[in-house]
Amino acid sequence: MAQFNQARAYMAQEDVFFDDGREIELLHFVYDHPDLDEIRASPERVLEAIDEFGRTKKYLMNVGENKGKIVTDLISEVKPGVMVELGGYVGYSTILFADALRKAGGQKYWSLERNPEFAAVISSLVELAGLSGIVKVVVGSSDESLQRLHAQRYIDKVDILFLDHYKPAYLRDLMLCEQLRLISPGSVLAADNVIKPGNPPYLEYVQSDVDKKVARQAQTQALYTGLFFPPACAKQYGDNNPDTINSAVKGNPHLVYESSLIRGFEPTGVPDGIEITHCRG
Ligand SMILES: C[S@@+](CC[C@H](N)C(=O)[O-])C[C@H]1O[C@@H](n2cnc3c(N)ncnc32)[C@H](O)[C@@H]1O
Repeated sequence: MAQFNQARAYMAQEDVFFDDGREIELLHFVYDHPDLDEIRASPERVLEAIDEFGRTKKYLMNVGENKGKIVTDLISEVKPGVMVELGGYVGYSTILFADALRKAGGQKYWSLERNPEFAAVISSLVELAGLSGIVKVVVGSSDESLQRLHAQRYIDKVDILFLDHYKPAYLRDLMLCEQLRLISPGSVLAADNVIKPGNPPYLEYVQSDVDKKVARQAQTQALYTGLFFPPACAKQYGDNNPDTINSAVKGNPHLVYESSLIRGFEPTGVPDGIEITHCRG
């Protein structure tokens, strides 16, 4: 595990840590930056400016450079043509991973973000970073966007799926992608925050063998209603609302997964991890 560089730690996460105006403050910070001319068309410099805001102004719920490297290493290895992220926030992961995707020869990075204001911040910073050619920001709830993009044939296969949105929706959206055949042998899933705040239902699913998943599909309702989230997760992302789980999504339990946890750190230095799951067959 790469060591955490304390000198680059973000400010501590507050009780209210997003959607309080800080995302627009970030835009002003970047566009008022004395080095704006050098920041233009440089993904590295845009990321550095976002990190500077997180270190010196206010916490931002970005994947950060420590865990980000786990995913950029994966991108260099897998060389995805198409990558989809669920939850773009202010575009940190979008810029970091789309730049890595471009360097690896990839064609398209889809950033799905529910909040239209956050999506506007992503678009502005992606444009500043010079990545508009390969990034497409899609506003809306991830499940609706995935279904629409699939139905309109914009996406027919996902090489890497980065899950970093509403924690109770990870499993539902993975199963939706399976059902739409967006995930197939060769696809890789990278799920953030599997330690902080944690996501036991998602981890149990991707770590299960086919027999176990098939048996469980027979008890679909029990599986959905039996989802459990630890108190920290419930506090951070709302309670375990069964409405977030669409029992019509059956997934494809026949996909073979090989999954492992890669440990890392939040940008504040808090330990966390990314679950990397390869679809093998
Ligand atoms: C932890 S932040 C994402 C951070 C970002 N991936 C990064 O590392 O820079 C989670 C984001 O997911 C978005 N979100 C939550 N539920 C969503 C959903 N159902 N569909 C799309 N986006 C969602 C939130 O608005 C928020 O911007």
